[in-house]
Amino acid sequence: MQRTLVLVKPDGVQRGLVGLILARLERRGLKLVALKMMQISRELAGRHYAEHQSKPFYDGLIAFITSGPVVAMIWEGREAVAVVRSVMGSTDPLTAAPGTIRGDLALDLGMNLIHGSDSPARAQTEMALFFSSAEIHDYERTADRWIRE
Ligand code: RTP
Ligand code: MG
Repeated sequence: MQRTLVLVKPDGVQRGLVGLILARLERRGLKLVALKMMQISRELAGRHYAEHQSKPFYDGLIAFITSGPVVAMIWEGREAVAVVRSVMGSTDPLTAAPGTIRGDLALDLGMNLIHGSDSPARAQTEMALFFSSAEIHDYERTADRWIRE
């Protein structure tokens, strides 16, 4: 089953939206397999956002993601990468669809509450950046009988 890395960004922690964001992913049927609060170091931020290094918004992005604690999670489920991206909404909250996390709860591009890996390959890389294998839990969830065909 596919897995993906999700971060509740510092704005989500500061605004008290961790529980709400978690609940939206949980009620979709995704399965939580790893969870921790952490402060992202500049080094980890650089590795996580390496693809954006040459972009004009890079310095601001690194400053923002390291500005306070985040909640890091791994979610598992059918097409988990794409499902999380669709629950998040598009990058700019201004154009994110209503019903999505960004479309319902955010307004500005730089304060868009949540990160989700953008491809299965990136998910593999990002999960390894944020979690050791001992922090990722394989377990049976009885509700899956009513979620997975
Ligand atoms: P993320 O990686 O944070 O989950 O967001 P994303 O995939 O939806 O967007 P991405 O293109 O990876 O951009 C990473 C973050 O950089 C900020 N950004 N600013 N000023 C700009 O044009 C611009 N473009 C992107 C956003 O905060 C975005 O979440
Ligand atoms: Mg991205």
